[in-house]
Amino acid sequence: MTILLTGGAGYIGSHAAVALIEAGHAVVCFDNHCNSKPDVAVQVEQITGNAPIMVTGDIRNRAALDQVFADHAIDAVIHFAGLKAVGESVALPLEYYENNVWGTACLLQAMKAAGVRKLVFSSSATVYGAPQYLPLDETHPRSATNPYGRTKLIVEHMLEDLAASDPDWRIAVLRYFNPVGAHASGLIGEDPNGIPNNLMPYVTRVASGRLDQLSVFGNDYDTPDGTGVRDYIHVVDLAAGHLAALDRIGRESRALSVWNLGTGNGHSVLDLVRTFEAVNGLAVPYRFAPRRAGDVAACYASPDLAREELGWEAQRDLAQMVGSAWSFEKLATTRNR
Ligand code: NAD
Ligand code: WQD
Repeated sequence: MTILLTGGAGYIGSHAAVALIEAGHAVVCFDNHCNSKPDVAVQVEQITGNAPIMVTGDIRNRAALDQVFADHAIDAVIHFAGLKAVGESVALPLEYYENNVWGTACLLQAMKAAGVRKLVFSSSATVYGAPQYLPLDETHPRSATNPYGRTKLIVEHMLEDLAASDPDWRIAVLRYFNPVGAHASGLIGEDPNGIPNNLMPYVTRVASGRLDQLSVFGNDYDTPDGTGVRDYIHVVDLAAGHLAALDRIGRESRALSVWNLGTGNGHSVLDLVRTFEAVNGLAVPYRFAPRRAGDVAACYASPDLAREELGWEAQRDLAQMVGSAWSFEKLATTRNR
C-alpha cells in the first residue's frame, strides 16, 4: 500500500515510516517541518534502504493536500501532524485549534474528495483527563484539562461524527500513553527544540551535560515512591501498533475503532531515572521540586483491547527505552556539534 504520513518527519512519524517501509509499504511524508527536519528521510533510508517521499506542506493548505492525493495513489493516511506541547497550548490556544482541529478538518475534506477513507489518528491518553480509575480502558470518561487535550478531544468527536455520516470510513483512533526511546540504530529519535518539557528528553540532556539537573516535579504523590507514575512505551513498539491498526481497519466492519497504545505498566520518575543510570552507567543529578500544575499522580493503560483486537502488544521494557534514548542523544550531540 501507499501510506500518507502527515507529520511523517516527526518523532513518532519517522519511526512509523521505518516500520511501514520495512513491511513493504510505500511512504509519502507530508510535513511543514515546524518541529522536524526534512533530512530525516536520509536517516530513514539509512535504516531501511528505501527513502520515503518527502513533501513539504501544511495540512491547513487544502490545495497542497489535494496535490498530494493527485500525485500519489494513497491507500490510507496516518495523521501525526499537529502541535503537542501542553504548556504552549495554554499560552497559544488559537495556534493549537488552527493546526490540530482546523488542520485535521482540511485533511479530512481532502481525503473525502480523493475518495481515501482509511485513517489512523494520533490521539492521546490526555483525553482521559484525571483518571477516575486505573488502568485506563477505552471506555473511561473523556475530558480535557488544557487546550492541547481539548483539540484531541474535539478531533475525536469530529471523527465520530464523520464515521456516523458515512459508514465507508475506516478510522482508527489510537490513544498513545507516554512514547519514549528511539530506533535501535540511534539514527532517529526525539530531539525537541529548546528546553524539553517531557521527562525522557530532559533526562538525556542532563546525562549529556547539555542541562545541569533534572527537577523531579513532586515527591509527595500517593505512589510507591511519591513521584509521578506513567505508562512509558517504546516508540518502536508504538510504531508497530500503527501497522497493526492499519491492518485491522482493512478488515474491520466498524467505521470507527479506538485503541489504547500503552504497556499497562506504570513507572515512577525515579524508576526511570534509576534505570537510565544503571543501563547507561551515567549519573543523572536531580532535585525534588514542587508538583507541576495539571499533573496527576498516576496514569497507565489497559492494553487489553489492543492485544485482543489488534494482536499487538508492546515488547520492549524500560531498560530498552532508556538505553535507546541515550544512544540517540549521543549521536545527536555529535551531529549537532
Ligand atoms: P512531533 O512534533 O515530533 O511530530 C509532529 C510533526 O508534525 C512534526 O514533524 C511537525 O513539523 C509536523 N506538523 C505540525 N503541524 C503541522 C502542519 N500544520 N502541517 C504539516 N505538518 C505539521 O510530535 P510527535 O511526538 O511525533 O507526535 C505526533 C502526533 O502524536 C501528534 O499529533 C501528537 O499530538 C501525538 N501524540 C504525541 C505524544 C508524545 O508524547 N509524543 C503523545 C500522545 C499523542
Ligand atoms: C512524565 C512524568 C512529570 C519533566 C505529556 C502530555 C501528554 C502526552 C505525553 C501528548 C510526570 C515528570 C517531567 C521533568 C519531571 N503528550 N517530570 N520533570 O505529563 O505524563 O504527558 O506527554 O499527547 O498529553 O501531558 O509526560 O514526560 O511531561 O512527564 O519530574 O522535567 O515526569 O511530573 O510525572 P506527561 P511528561
